Amino acid sequence: VIQILAISGSLRSKSINTKLLKAIALSAPKCGTSVKVCQLLGHLPLFNPDIEGNAPTVVHDFKAQLALADGVIIASPEYAHGITGVMKNALDWVVGSGDMVGKPVAVLNAAPRSSIAYEALKEILRTIDAHIVPEASLDVPVLGTDMEPVDMLNDGCLGPCIQQTLPALTKAIVASSR
Ligand SMILES: Cc1cc2nc3c(=O)[nH]c(=O)nc-3n(C[C@H](O)[C@H](O)[C@H](O)COP(=O)(O)O)c2cc1C
Repeated sequence: VIQILAISGSLRSKSINTKLLKAIALSAPKCGTSVKVCQLLGHLPLFNPDIEGNAPTVVHDFKAQLALADGVIIASPEYAHGITGVMKNALDWVVGSGDMVGKPVAVLNAAPRSSIAYEALKEILRTIDAHIVPEASLDVPVLGTDMEPVDMLNDGCLGPCIQQTLPALTKAIVASSR
């Protein structure tokens, strides 16, 4: 089974980005994939190169989750025209380790108006040599809808759009492993 790690850039309990990732996780079984929603971002210490060689267990756990994942899905809000601090912090931890190199990544944007952070996120991912999969990377306008994951999946308009992500990401994973 293809393993996908879903990473939300929001720590908010009612985060629409996290709900979007959970909606995709609900659609995983019928795509022959397993989607794990990462819960570690809020527990990572602030990145400091001085402690990189002797990092706390949670950093190793995060890197292990990435290493185990055949692909990654990221959804992050925009905060003041940037990606969120937690998202940037998590990515800073894997700049030197190379855990994202060549990793197929779907980048989702829950708010089409938040285009500055979305572009910034993709630029960071390109810089750390992640493999952004355009066919799996979507604008999914769910911000402000207050929808639960199951509602997103069953929505006549959003459902088919959301369900496009995993097959497209899986296709890229299979192609890159050949
Ligand atoms: C501190 C802060 C700054 C924000 N800055 C922006 C912004 O620059 N552009 C924007 O489109 N939305 C901005 N927003 C709105 C968030 O993108 C929005 O609240 C989004 O729902 C957060 O995602 P979440 O539901 O996953 O937590 C900001 C929100 C906060 C809390």
